[in-house]
Amino acid sequence: MPGFVQLPYGDHDALKAAIGPTTAAIIIEPVQGEGGARALPDGCLRGLRQLCDETGILLILDEIQCGLGRTGKLFAYEWAGIVPDIMTVAKALGGGFPVGACLATAEAASGMSVGSHGSTYGGNPLAMAVGLAAMEELNSPELLAHVNQVSGYFRQQFAGLQERFPDVVLDVRGRGMLIGLKLGTPNRDFMQLARDQHLLIAGGGDNCVRLLPP
Ligand SMILES: Cc1ncc(COP(=O)(O)O)c(C=O)c1O
Repeated sequence: MPGFVQLPYGDHDALKAAIGPTTAAIIIEPVQGEGGARALPDGCLRGLRQLCDETGILLILDEIQCGLGRTGKLFAYEWAGIVPDIMTVAKALGGGFPVGACLATAEAASGMSVGSHGSTYGGNPLAMAVGLAAMEELNSPELLAHVNQVSGYFRQQFAGLQERFPDVVLDVRGRGMLIGLKLGTPNRDFMQLARDQHLLIAGGGDNCVRLLPP
């Protein structure tokens, strides 16, 4: 993306060095999806918040994949006890219906005017009604408790698999229902074998497969 500087994951020195007088914001996924289901440690997310506050730049979180209940909290940033300035959400927001949203605090949004973030279908009544209905379902304590219970079971079972097949399952990562298995065998082969067993799983960076039960 033009205007963005991409930095190595977890390189704090590179991050600090990259922030200059023209830097507007840091954007990051609290739990990486395509990047290989890597959960940013809570301390790192708090560190990013602090860095943004100190340098007067915005913290933008992409919660399109990890947000809306998938990690066991409504938003993944809640685990770290911080709040972003801007956040993107989509996917589960529509429960299957195509809708996405860019949310901002009043202060961050003060830099935008009407039409500066518009689109033909933006804010259309059907998508908004679906989004509101989905939010009501997703934001229930019962649903989040269920996510935590089921994902705990998943993790336990995958830890068992890792123990039994340490050459195949090298690492179990992610958070909640955003689960990644780092493999010792090519992930594409593993995905095909799973598909042959009628199990659909996604790939990811760092030779991972991702399981994202809805
Ligand atoms: C983390 C993340 N951000 C952004 C996107 C793009 O989302 P959209 O197609 O809603 O723009 C995706 C899609 O997979 C994603 O996983």
